[in-house]
Amino acid sequence: MPDLVEEVLRLKRERGAVILAHNYQRREVQAVADFLGDSLDLSLEAANTDARVVVFAGVYFMAETAAVLNPDKLVLIPDVKAGCTLVDSIRAEDVVKWKREHPNGVVVAYINSSIEVKAVSDYVCTSANCHKIVESIPRDRPVLFVPDRNLGNYIRYVTGRDDLYIWNGACYVHDRITYDVLARVAMENGNSVLLVHPECSGTVDILKDAGKLGVRVKVSSTQGMVRAVEESRGDSFVIATETGLIDRVLREIPDAKVAPALRSAVCGFMKLITLDKVYRSLRDLVYPVRVPEDIARRARVSITRMLEFR
Ligand code: 13P
Ligand code: SF4
Repeated sequence: MPDLVEEVLRLKRERGAVILAHNYQRREVQAVADFLGDSLDLSLEAANTDARVVVFAGVYFMAETAAVLNPDKLVLIPDVKAGCTLVDSIRAEDVVKWKREHPNGVVVAYINSSIEVKAVSDYVCTSANCHKIVESIPRDRPVLFVPDRNLGNYIRYVTGRDDLYIWNGACYVHDRITYDVLARVAMENGNSVLLVHPECSGTVDILKDAGKLGVRVKVSSTQGMVRAVEESRGDSFVIATETGLIDRVLREIPDAKVAPALRSAVCGFMKLITLDKVYRSLRDLVYPVRVPEDIARRARVSITRMLEFR
C-alpha cells in the first residue's frame, strides 16, 4: 500500500486540485493542504484559485461558500456530515420573519450559517471583519445579527451599537469557554497573553475585567491568533479556541509557547475530516458541493460584499 500522503499529493497533481484547509483541521490534514486559514482567508483564496478542483477540508458552510464563489469548478467536501451548531440554529424563513418585524433593519449573517440564510441576508461577515462591516452600516439602520449570540455581544461591545439585535445561536465548542474558564487560566498563566476567539461566551466579560485581573487579552479570528504569535515571539500564549489551532501555530512556529484554555474544546465536525477521507475525496471526486443557482446568485451578493472588508 503506497504511503497515503504520497497518494494524496499524486492525486492532487493528477486532478489539478487544490486543498484548502481550515486552521482547526487535524495535523495530518494540515500537512497536505495548499492553503491554511480562517474563514475569511479561505473564502478569498477560494475566490482567486485557478485550480479545476477544490477539496475543502473544513465544515460544510465553508465548502458551500467556496462553491458559490466558483460556479464553474468542482468543489468537494470529504465528509458531508461536517456541520456546525451555529448553522443549525437558524433557517432562512426565521431571517425573513425577523426582517418583517424590522423593515428598516440590515441583516448581517456570520459566515457560520447556511447558504439559504446567506441568500436572504444583506452582508455575510467572518470573525475577522465583522466589526468593520457593522461599523459601516449607517446609524439610522438597526442591525439584525445572526446567528451567534457570543460574537454578536462582542460586536455590540466594540462598536457601542445598542441598535444591534442578536439571534440566540451558539457554537457548542466556544460556548463552553466561559468567563470562569478564561479568568482561571488567566490567573494560572499570569504572564501569558490570552488570545480569545469572539465565539467564546466569556469574551466580553474577560475584556471588561482584563485590567482588574492584570491580563493581556486579544480577541481575534483564528488567523489573527496565528499572526499574534508570529509577531510576538518572546511571549507565551493561552489560546481560547478549538485546540486544532495549537497544531496550526506549531506548524508555523515550532518553538512557540502556546497552551489551550480548555483542553476539551474540540470540534467533532471539523475532526470528521481525516486524511483517508481527503484521499478518497480526490480518488472518487466525492462529495460535490452544489448550490441551486437561484440561491447561489443571491448569496453571492452578500458574500462578495464580505470580501470587500479585509
Ligand atoms: P475563524 O473564521 O476565526 O477561523 O473561525 C471559524 C470557526 O468556525 C470558529 O469556530
Ligand atoms: Fe461550528 Fe463551533 Fe465547529 Fe466552528 S468550532 S465549525 S463554530 S461547531
